[in-house]
Amino acid sequence: MATLLHIDSSVLPGEASSSRSVAAAFRTAWEEQHPEGTVIYRDLAADPVPHITAVAWSAGYVAPAERTPEQSAAFAAREMLMEELEQADAILIGAPMHNYSIPSSLKAWLDNVLLLGRTAGENPSAQGTPVIVVASRGGSYAPGTPREGFEFVQNYLEAVLGRTLGLDLDFIVPELTMAPRNPAMSQLVPLYEASRKRAFEDAAAKAKELAERLAA
Ligand SMILES: Cc1cc2nc3c(=O)[nH]c(=O)nc-3n(C[C@H](O)[C@H](O)[C@H](O)COP(=O)(O)O)c2cc1C
Repeated sequence: MATLLHIDSSVLPGEASSSRSVAAAFRTAWEEQHPEGTVIYRDLAADPVPHITAVAWSAGYVAPAERTPEQSAAFAAREMLMEELEQADAILIGAPMHNYSIPSSLKAWLDNVLLLGRTAGENPSAQGTPVIVVASRGGSYAPGTPREGFEFVQNYLEAVLGRTLGLDLDFIVPELTMAPRNPAMSQLVPLYEASRKRAFEDAAAKAKELAERLAA
């Protein structure tokens, strides 16, 4: 039975959010392929995980039996989040662009799950797990665009999810999502529509492709 860890972090609800909508399409296609499967769902906007503290961080580097009661209590939340990551056969993350980077709620999740010697380091515990990131953004930061150098979502997540946690990373990038709402971007509406259509197609195709890969 396959387990999907699905994480949303958009501040917008339901269909108002591009990343939630595209991630939902991926999840629907995934569930069609895995009717008996399990989905672990985290909505980091509705239910944020705690920011890392000195106590929770230092607890990661102390043997369980030697932790203070405060360290044990603080580490329990990290343990649960790391176990969710480790038990997943595939991971789906909605990562909208906020001020050129990821939402702080998603950063807080990463600060909790990244532990050197366990999820990160020489043999990361979730190494090789496929992760699909829906990286929605209001503008475009594609190669050749004026704001290309302001893109700190994909390159950051490549460093953290790919090279640090060792996950097998793939992106779906719905871009120009502000075009229908911003008159200054009206000429970009057709490009936005094409990007949105491609994102939904990619979501369905990638979910199916992944299911076939995991079944092989
Ligand atoms: C706090 C905040 C900051 C944002 N910063 C950017 C930005 O730097 N660049 C950009 O292209 N869009 C920015 N946007 C727009 C979002 O990236 C865009 O609305 C996108 O669709 C968000 O994904 P969602 O629809 O899943 O929430 C920002 C939105 C919010 C709420």
